[in-house]
Amino acid sequence: MDSHRFTVRAACSVRSPGRRLPSLARAGAAVLATLLALPAPQAVAADAGRAAAAGHATATSRAADDGMTRRMQACTPCHGKEGRATASGYFPRIAGKPAGYLFNQLVAFRDGQRPGAAMAGLVALMDDAYLRDIAAHFAALDLPYASPEPLSAAGTPAVRALLARGEALARHGDAARGVPACAACHGERLTGALPALPGLIGLPRDYLLGQLGAWRQGERRAAAPDCMATIARRLDDNDVAAVTSWLAAQPPGADMKPAPVEGVALPLPLACGSGLR
Ligand code: HEC
Ligand code: HEC
Repeated sequence: MDSHRFTVRAACSVRSPGRRLPSLARAGAAVLATLLALPAPQAVAADAGRAAAAGHATATSRAADDGMTRRMQACTPCHGKEGRATASGYFPRIAGKPAGYLFNQLVAFRDGQRPGAAMAGLVALMDDAYLRDIAAHFAALDLPYASPEPLSAAGTPAVRALLARGEALARHGDAARGVPACAACHGERLTGALPALPGLIGLPRDYLLGQLGAWRQGERRAAAPDCMATIARRLDDNDVAAVTSWLAAQPPGADMKPAPVEGVALPLPLACGSGLR
Protein backbone atom coordinates (compact mmCIF):
# COMPACT_ATOMS: atom_id res chain seq x y z
CA MET A 1 0.00 0.00 0.00
CA ASP A 2 1.24 3.46 -0.81
CA SER A 3 0.94 5.27 2.46
CA HIS A 4 2.04 8.58 0.89
CA ARG A 5 -1.39 8.88 -0.63
CA PHE A 6 -2.78 9.29 2.82
CA THR A 7 -0.42 12.01 3.93
CA VAL A 8 -2.45 15.15 4.42
CA ARG A 9 -1.55 18.59 5.54
CA ALA A 10 -3.58 20.40 8.10
CA ALA A 11 -5.70 23.15 6.64
CA CYS A 12 -5.98 25.05 9.89
CA SER A 13 -4.02 27.95 11.20
CA VAL A 14 -4.33 30.11 14.27
CA ARG A 15 -5.95 32.80 12.13
CA SER A 16 -8.60 30.53 10.69
CA PRO A 17 -9.53 27.96 13.29
CA GLY A 18 -12.77 27.25 11.50
CA ARG A 19 -11.15 25.75 8.42
CA ARG A 20 -10.97 22.01 8.33
CA LEU A 21 -8.94 19.26 6.81
CA PRO A 22 -9.58 18.77 3.11
CA SER A 23 -11.55 15.62 2.47
CA LEU A 24 -9.41 12.56 2.06
CA ALA A 25 -10.01 10.56 -1.09
CA ARG A 26 -12.99 8.30 -0.73
CA ALA A 27 -11.33 5.90 -3.12
CA GLY A 28 -8.41 5.54 -0.71
CA ALA A 29 -10.73 4.78 2.14
CA ALA A 30 -12.48 2.10 0.10
CA VAL A 31 -9.13 0.43 -0.63
CA LEU A 32 -8.32 0.43 3.06
CA ALA A 33 -11.70 -0.97 4.00
CA THR A 34 -10.93 -3.91 1.75
CA LEU A 35 -7.46 -4.32 3.24
CA LEU A 36 -9.00 -4.46 6.70
CA ALA A 37 -10.43 -7.86 5.75
CA LEU A 38 -13.13 -7.46 8.32
CA PRO A 39 -14.90 -10.54 9.48
CA ALA A 40 -18.62 -10.48 8.89
CA PRO A 41 -20.23 -9.25 12.13
CA GLN A 42 -22.11 -12.55 12.38
CA ALA A 43 -18.79 -14.40 12.31
CA VAL A 44 -17.53 -12.40 15.30
CA ALA A 45 -20.69 -13.13 17.26
CA ALA A 46 -20.58 -16.79 16.26
CA ASP A 47 -16.93 -17.07 17.36
CA ALA A 48 -17.76 -15.59 20.73
CA GLY A 49 -20.75 -17.89 21.06
CA ARG A 50 -18.70 -20.96 20.19
CA ALA A 51 -15.95 -19.96 22.62
CA ALA A 52 -18.40 -19.58 25.46
CA ALA A 53 -20.08 -22.88 24.62
CA ALA A 54 -16.81 -24.82 24.36
CA GLY A 55 -15.37 -23.34 27.54
CA HIS A 56 -12.20 -22.24 25.75
CA ALA A 57 -12.94 -18.57 26.13
CA THR A 58 -9.39 -17.57 27.13
CA ALA A 59 -7.53 -19.28 24.30
CA THR A 60 -10.09 -18.18 21.74
CA SER A 61 -10.19 -14.59 22.86
CA ARG A 62 -6.39 -14.45 22.72
CA ALA A 63 -6.56 -15.67 19.13
CA ALA A 64 -9.26 -13.08 18.47
CA ASP A 65 -6.99 -10.38 19.98
CA ASP A 66 -4.18 -11.38 17.62
CA GLY A 67 -6.58 -11.17 14.70
CA MET A 68 -7.72 -7.75 15.87
CA THR A 69 -4.14 -6.49 16.21
CA ARG A 70 -3.41 -7.62 12.68
CA ARG A 71 -6.58 -6.14 11.19
CA MET A 72 -6.12 -2.85 13.00
CA GLN A 73 -2.74 -2.33 11.33
CA ALA A 74 -4.86 -0.80 8.58
CA CYS A 75 -5.30 2.19 10.89
CA THR A 76 -1.51 2.73 11.16
CA PRO A 77 -0.87 4.83 8.03
CA CYS A 78 -2.90 7.64 9.55
CA HIS A 79 -3.04 7.05 13.32
CA GLY A 80 0.55 5.89 13.77
CA LYS A 81 1.92 2.62 14.98
CA GLU A 82 -0.68 0.85 17.07
CA GLY A 83 -2.83 3.97 17.20
CA ARG A 84 -0.07 6.17 18.58
CA ALA A 85 0.05 9.32 16.46
CA THR A 86 2.81 11.88 16.55
CA ALA A 87 2.46 15.22 18.30
CA SER A 88 2.43 17.10 15.00
CA GLY A 89 0.21 17.04 11.95
CA TYR A 90 -3.50 16.39 11.99
CA PHE A 91 -4.13 12.76 12.88
CA PRO A 92 -5.35 12.16 16.40
CA ARG A 93 -3.89 9.45 18.56
CA ILE A 94 -6.45 6.79 19.41
CA ALA A 95 -4.43 4.46 21.70
CA GLY A 96 -5.42 4.62 25.36
CA LYS A 97 -8.49 6.81 24.91
CA PRO A 98 -11.61 5.88 26.88
CA ALA A 99 -13.38 3.00 25.12
CA GLY A 100 -16.76 4.72 25.42
CA TYR A 101 -15.37 7.82 23.72
CA LEU A 102 -13.79 5.85 20.85
CA PHE A 103 -17.00 3.91 20.35
CA ASN A 104 -19.08 7.11 20.25
CA GLN A 105 -16.74 8.56 17.61
CA LEU A 106 -16.80 5.47 15.41
CA VAL A 107 -20.61 5.50 15.53
CA ALA A 108 -20.65 9.25 14.79
CA PHE A 109 -18.42 8.77 11.70
CA ARG A 110 -20.58 5.90 10.51
CA ASP A 111 -23.88 7.68 11.07
CA GLY A 112 -22.77 11.05 9.69
CA GLN A 113 -22.73 13.12 12.90
CA ARG A 114 -19.02 13.70 12.55
CA PRO A 115 -17.34 14.59 9.24
CA GLY A 116 -14.34 12.61 8.04
CA ALA A 117 -14.60 10.94 4.66
CA ALA A 118 -11.73 8.55 5.36
CA MET A 119 -13.20 7.34 8.62
CA ALA A 120 -16.77 7.15 7.35
CA GLY A 121 -15.70 4.89 4.48
CA LEU A 122 -13.85 2.54 6.83
CA VAL A 123 -16.63 2.05 9.31
CA ALA A 124 -19.60 2.29 6.94
CA LEU A 125 -20.36 -1.41 7.03
CA MET A 126 -19.48 -2.16 10.65
CA ASP A 127 -22.15 -2.88 13.22
CA ASP A 128 -22.14 -1.57 16.80
CA ALA A 129 -20.73 -4.82 18.23
CA TYR A 130 -17.68 -4.70 15.98
CA LEU A 131 -17.14 -0.98 16.65
CA ARG A 132 -17.24 -1.76 20.37
CA ASP A 133 -14.53 -4.40 19.89
CA ILE A 134 -12.36 -1.93 17.96
CA ALA A 135 -12.86 0.72 20.66
CA ALA A 136 -11.94 -1.76 23.41
CA HIS A 137 -8.84 -2.82 21.47
CA PHE A 138 -7.41 0.71 21.18
CA ALA A 139 -8.53 1.77 24.67
CA ALA A 140 -6.50 -1.08 26.17
CA LEU A 141 -3.23 -0.02 24.47
CA ASP A 142 -0.81 1.63 26.87
CA LEU A 143 1.91 3.29 24.80
CA PRO A 144 4.20 6.25 25.45
CA TYR A 145 3.17 9.72 24.27
CA ALA A 146 5.20 11.83 21.86
CA SER A 147 6.62 15.12 23.17
CA PRO A 148 5.03 18.23 21.69
CA GLU A 149 6.75 20.20 18.95
CA PRO A 150 8.35 23.39 20.25
CA LEU A 151 6.27 26.48 19.53
CA SER A 152 7.81 28.96 17.15
CA ALA A 153 8.27 32.40 18.74
CA ALA A 154 7.49 30.82 22.12
CA GLY A 155 9.37 33.45 24.09
CA THR A 156 7.75 36.58 22.66
CA PRO A 157 5.40 38.57 24.91
CA ALA A 158 2.47 38.04 22.52
CA VAL A 159 2.87 34.27 22.59
CA ARG A 160 3.41 34.26 26.36
CA ALA A 161 0.14 36.17 26.78
CA LEU A 162 -1.65 33.79 24.43
CA LEU A 163 -0.42 30.75 26.37
CA ALA A 164 -1.38 32.35 29.71
CA ARG A 165 -4.92 32.91 28.41
CA GLY A 166 -5.00 29.32 27.17
CA GLU A 167 -3.92 27.90 30.50
CA ALA A 168 -6.50 30.06 32.33
CA LEU A 169 -9.28 28.74 30.10
CA ALA A 170 -8.16 25.14 30.48
CA ARG A 171 -7.84 25.27 34.26
CA HIS A 172 -10.42 27.91 35.29
CA GLY A 173 -12.63 28.72 32.30
CA ASP A 174 -14.12 32.19 31.86
CA ALA A 175 -17.15 32.65 34.09
CA ALA A 176 -18.11 35.98 32.48
CA ARG A 177 -18.55 34.24 29.14
CA GLY A 178 -20.13 31.09 30.55
CA VAL A 179 -17.15 28.93 29.63
CA PRO A 180 -16.42 26.27 32.26
CA ALA A 181 -12.86 25.07 32.83
CA CYS A 182 -11.89 22.39 30.33
CA ALA A 183 -10.50 20.47 33.33
CA ALA A 184 -13.98 20.30 34.90
CA CYS A 185 -14.97 17.70 32.31
CA HIS A 186 -11.72 16.53 30.72
CA GLY A 187 -10.18 15.65 34.08
CA GLU A 188 -7.87 17.50 36.46
CA ARG A 189 -4.85 16.30 34.45
CA LEU A 190 -6.73 16.90 31.16
CA THR A 191 -6.11 13.26 30.26
CA GLY A 192 -9.83 12.50 29.99
CA ALA A 193 -12.12 10.52 32.24
CA LEU A 194 -14.08 7.33 32.00
CA PRO A 195 -16.29 6.24 30.48
CA ALA A 196 -16.31 8.60 27.47
CA LEU A 197 -14.57 11.94 28.14
CA PRO A 198 -11.49 12.28 25.92
CA GLY A 199 -8.13 13.66 27.04
CA LEU A 200 -6.92 16.95 25.57
CA ILE A 201 -3.17 16.48 26.17
CA GLY A 202 -1.15 14.73 23.48
CA LEU A 203 -3.22 15.99 20.54
CA PRO A 204 -1.68 18.10 17.77
CA ARG A 205 -2.75 21.75 17.71
CA ASP A 206 -4.04 21.55 14.16
CA TYR A 207 -6.31 18.69 15.19
CA LEU A 208 -7.64 20.61 18.22
CA LEU A 209 -8.25 23.66 16.01
CA GLY A 210 -10.04 21.50 13.48
CA GLN A 211 -12.37 20.01 16.10
CA LEU A 212 -13.34 23.31 17.73
CA GLY A 213 -13.87 24.79 14.26
CA ALA A 214 -16.07 21.86 13.25
CA TRP A 215 -18.20 22.28 16.39
CA ARG A 216 -18.58 26.01 15.84
CA GLN A 217 -19.77 25.39 12.30
CA GLY A 218 -22.14 22.60 13.26
CA GLU A 219 -20.16 20.03 11.30
CA ARG A 220 -19.17 17.85 14.26
CA ARG A 221 -22.13 16.96 16.43
CA ALA A 222 -22.12 14.94 19.62
CA ALA A 223 -25.22 13.54 21.32
CA ALA A 224 -27.60 16.27 22.55
CA PRO A 225 -27.23 18.34 24.58
CA ASP A 226 -23.97 18.96 22.71
CA CYS A 227 -22.02 20.81 25.39
CA MET A 228 -18.92 21.10 23.21
CA ALA A 229 -20.88 22.93 20.52
CA THR A 230 -22.01 25.44 23.18
CA ILE A 231 -18.50 25.86 24.55
CA ALA A 232 -16.83 26.17 21.14
CA ARG A 233 -19.29 28.93 20.20
CA ARG A 234 -18.67 30.85 23.42
CA LEU A 235 -14.94 30.98 22.70
CA ASP A 236 -13.75 33.75 20.39
CA ASP A 237 -11.00 33.28 17.79
CA ASN A 238 -8.29 34.41 20.19
CA ASP A 239 -9.53 31.98 22.86
CA VAL A 240 -9.52 29.10 20.41
CA ALA A 241 -5.96 29.94 19.36
CA ALA A 242 -4.95 30.34 23.02
CA VAL A 243 -6.39 27.15 24.46
CA THR A 244 -5.33 24.93 21.56
CA SER A 245 -1.79 26.35 21.59
CA TRP A 246 -1.46 25.84 25.33
CA LEU A 247 -2.91 22.31 25.29
CA ALA A 248 -0.72 21.21 22.39
CA ALA A 249 2.41 22.60 24.10
CA GLN A 250 1.96 20.54 27.28
CA PRO A 251 4.49 17.73 27.70
CA PRO A 252 2.97 14.35 28.46
CA GLY A 253 2.75 13.67 32.21
CA ALA A 254 3.84 10.50 33.98
CA ASP A 255 0.28 9.15 34.05
CA MET A 256 -1.67 9.80 30.88
CA LYS A 257 -4.47 7.37 31.62
CA PRO A 258 -8.02 8.74 31.78
CA ALA A 259 -9.26 9.42 35.31
CA PRO A 260 -11.83 7.07 36.81
CA VAL A 261 -15.38 8.42 36.63
CA GLU A 262 -15.15 9.31 40.35
CA GLY A 263 -12.37 11.73 39.37
CA VAL A 264 -14.91 14.06 37.75
CA ALA A 265 -17.19 16.22 39.91
CA LEU A 266 -20.82 15.64 39.02
CA PRO A 267 -22.98 17.12 37.72
CA LEU A 268 -20.79 18.45 34.92
CA PRO A 269 -20.88 22.27 34.66
CA LEU A 270 -22.96 21.93 31.47
CA ALA A 271 -25.13 18.97 30.56
CA CYS A 272 -23.54 16.73 27.91
CA GLY A 273 -25.30 14.00 25.93
CA SER A 274 -22.03 12.08 25.58
CA GLY A 275 -19.05 11.82 27.88
CA LEU A 276 -20.70 9.98 30.74
CA ARG A 277 -21.99 7.28 28.40
C1 HEC B 1 -6.84 7.51 5.65
C2 HEC B 1 -6.44 7.91 7.00
C3 HEC B 1 -7.13 7.19 8.15
C4 HEC B 1 -7.19 5.84 8.39
C5 HEC B 1 -6.60 4.71 7.56
C6 HEC B 1 -7.89 5.69 9.66
N1 HEC B 1 -8.23 6.92 10.16
FE1 HEC B 1 -9.22 7.28 11.90
N2 HEC B 1 -9.13 9.30 11.54
C7 HEC B 1 -8.57 9.87 10.42
C8 HEC B 1 -8.74 11.32 10.50
C9 HEC B 1 -8.27 12.35 9.47
C10 HEC B 1 -9.42 11.59 11.71
C11 HEC B 1 -9.87 12.94 12.23
C12 HEC B 1 -11.17 13.25 11.54
C13 HEC B 1 -11.59 14.68 11.81
O1 HEC B 1 -12.18 14.94 12.84
O2 HEC B 1 -11.32 15.53 10.96
C14 HEC B 1 -9.64 10.28 12.35
C15 HEC B 1 -10.26 10.13 13.56
C16 HEC B 1 -10.46 8.91 14.19
C17 HEC B 1 -11.07 8.74 15.49
C18 HEC B 1 -11.54 9.84 16.42
C19 HEC B 1 -10.41 10.18 17.39
C20 HEC B 1 -10.76 11.26 18.38
O3 HEC B 1 -9.90 11.61 19.21
O4 HEC B 1 -11.88 11.78 18.36
C21 HEC B 1 -11.09 7.40 15.76
C22 HEC B 1 -11.65 6.72 17.00
C23 HEC B 1 -10.49 6.73 14.62
N3 HEC B 1 -10.12 7.66 13.69
C24 HEC B 1 -10.33 5.35 14.51
C25 HEC B 1 -9.74 4.69 13.42
C26 HEC B 1 -9.61 3.26 13.31
C27 HEC B 1 -10.05 2.27 14.37
C28 HEC B 1 -9.02 3.02 12.10
C29 HEC B 1 -8.71 1.66 11.48
C30 HEC B 1 -9.86 0.77 11.36
C31 HEC B 1 -8.76 4.30 11.47
N4 HEC B 1 -9.22 5.30 12.30
C32 HEC B 1 -8.14 4.48 10.25
C33 HEC B 1 -7.93 9.23 9.39
C34 HEC B 1 -7.80 7.86 9.27
C1 HEC C 1 -19.28 20.34 30.29
C2 HEC C 1 -18.22 19.39 30.00
C3 HEC C 1 -17.09 19.85 29.07
C4 HEC C 1 -16.30 20.97 29.20
C5 HEC C 1 -16.37 22.05 30.26
C6 HEC C 1 -15.36 20.92 28.10
N1 HEC C 1 -15.58 19.80 27.35
FE1 HEC C 1 -14.57 19.26 25.66
N2 HEC C 1 -15.67 17.58 25.50
C7 HEC C 1 -16.72 17.23 26.33
C8 HEC C 1 -17.32 16.01 25.86
C9 HEC C 1 -18.51 15.29 26.48
C10 HEC C 1 -16.59 15.62 24.72
C11 HEC C 1 -16.84 14.38 23.84
C12 HEC C 1 -17.83 14.75 22.76
C13 HEC C 1 -18.10 13.57 21.83
O1 HEC C 1 -18.53 12.53 22.33
O2 HEC C 1 -17.83 13.73 20.63
C14 HEC C 1 -15.57 16.61 24.52
C15 HEC C 1 -14.65 16.60 23.48
C16 HEC C 1 -13.71 17.58 23.24
C17 HEC C 1 -12.76 17.58 22.17
C18 HEC C 1 -12.59 16.49 21.12
C19 HEC C 1 -11.39 15.62 21.48
C20 HEC C 1 -10.99 14.68 20.37
O3 HEC C 1 -10.16 13.79 20.61
O4 HEC C 1 -11.49 14.82 19.24
C21 HEC C 1 -12.03 18.73 22.28
C22 HEC C 1 -10.92 19.18 21.36
C23 HEC C 1 -12.52 19.44 23.43
N3 HEC C 1 -13.54 18.72 24.01
C24 HEC C 1 -11.99 20.64 23.88
C25 HEC C 1 -12.41 21.31 25.03
C26 HEC C 1 -11.82 22.55 25.50
C27 HEC C 1 -10.67 23.27 24.82
C28 HEC C 1 -12.50 22.89 26.63
C29 HEC C 1 -12.31 24.11 27.51
C30 HEC C 1 -12.37 25.40 26.84
C31 HEC C 1 -13.52 21.87 26.84
N4 HEC C 1 -13.41 20.93 25.86
C32 HEC C 1 -14.41 21.89 27.87
C33 HEC C 1 -17.14 17.92 27.46
C34 HEC C 1 -16.62 19.11 27.91
